[in-house]
Amino acid sequence: MKKIEKRNKTILIDDNDREIFEPKLIKLPYDGELINKIINQDFFEAIKYLPDSFVDLLFVDPPYNLTKNFHSHTFNKKSYEEYKDWCESWISKIIRILKSTSSIYICSEWQTSPIVYDVIKKYFIIRNRITFEREKGRGAKQNWKNNCEDIYFCTMSNKYTFNIENVKIKRRVIAPYKENGVPKDWFIENNEKFRLTYPSNIWTDITIPFWSMRENTSHPTQKPEKLLARIILASSNEGDLVFDPFAGSGTTAVVAKKLKRKFLAIEIEKEYCFYTYKRLLMAEEDKRIQGYENGYFYDRNCKKSF
Ligand SMILES: C[S@@+](CC[C@H](N)C(=O)[O-])C[C@H]1O[C@@H](n2cnc3c(N)ncnc32)[C@H](O)[C@@H]1O
Repeated sequence: MKKIEKRNKTILIDDNDREIFEPKLIKLPYDGELINKIINQDFFEAIKYLPDSFVDLLFVDPPYNLTKNFHSHTFNKKSYEEYKDWCESWISKIIRILKSTSSIYICSEWQTSPIVYDVIKKYFIIRNRITFEREKGRGAKQNWKNNCEDIYFCTMSNKYTFNIENVKIKRRVIAPYKENGVPKDWFIENNEKFRLTYPSNIWTDITIPFWSMRENTSHPTQKPEKLLARIILASSNEGDLVFDPFAGSGTTAVVAKKLKRKFLAIEIEKEYCFYTYKRLLMAEEDKRIQGYENGYFYDRNCKKSF
């Protein structure tokens, strides 16, 4: 039998979980309310049944233009034009369910992002491209290690939610400058010097989930809860609806729940939906988000992980 490292906190699913969560999964058309639900269906089938103009915040983490295995299916790398057509096929269908005040975040990486840009420029006001450092994996021998991902931040109009005060980063001060003997923009807390800063479009404080983190699952491209927390806090308000059409292990839904937003998510792989439900169940008891505490984000490894 495989020995599991004692500190390994990876979330596991067993047959008992599968039996409990199976009845919770829904397929569309569905008679009940489409709030706080995980739809286990192909996006292209489910989208037909979603109402008009109901999404406040859209977070999309689609399969990138790389060959990647997602449990029982593989997404195959396509030509530029083929991937563009594929993006066009889901983005064009999503427009109908957005509001004029919706914010939109779409993930990509350096090879995928020019193609995504080519499509979204037709539909949205593109406001920024966030790049986050994904510190994971070993270096490559014949190339620079691929260490970042991009997220386009878009809106439907000039009227949108942006709560920058809610996403400040609490940083340790390395060179504490004083003016007339008074700390300039920093303070002391528990004998440590901190400064509060507003996040830029380069995020270097994000940790990709790994085995000793409580949010970790075996999903191959799971996004960190801290990343979603920053996006959800900045671009939605409590009670707003956050929609994720390619939900994977459910990070968007879980963080939306922890931050008192409503959610709706679609994922084609049943096993990943089970992960989501297990994480949602865990979130009933524990609403902590690693790296975000008492209303502030912390630099990577600044706070002891829990
Ligand atoms: C990049 S992953 C999303 C990861 C997710 N953000 C997380 O934190 O776990 C993309 C997901 O899209 C799902 N997917 C691919 N094609 C789909 C489709 N047509 N309908 C619904 N889900 C799909 C895959 O199974 C995969 O889990």
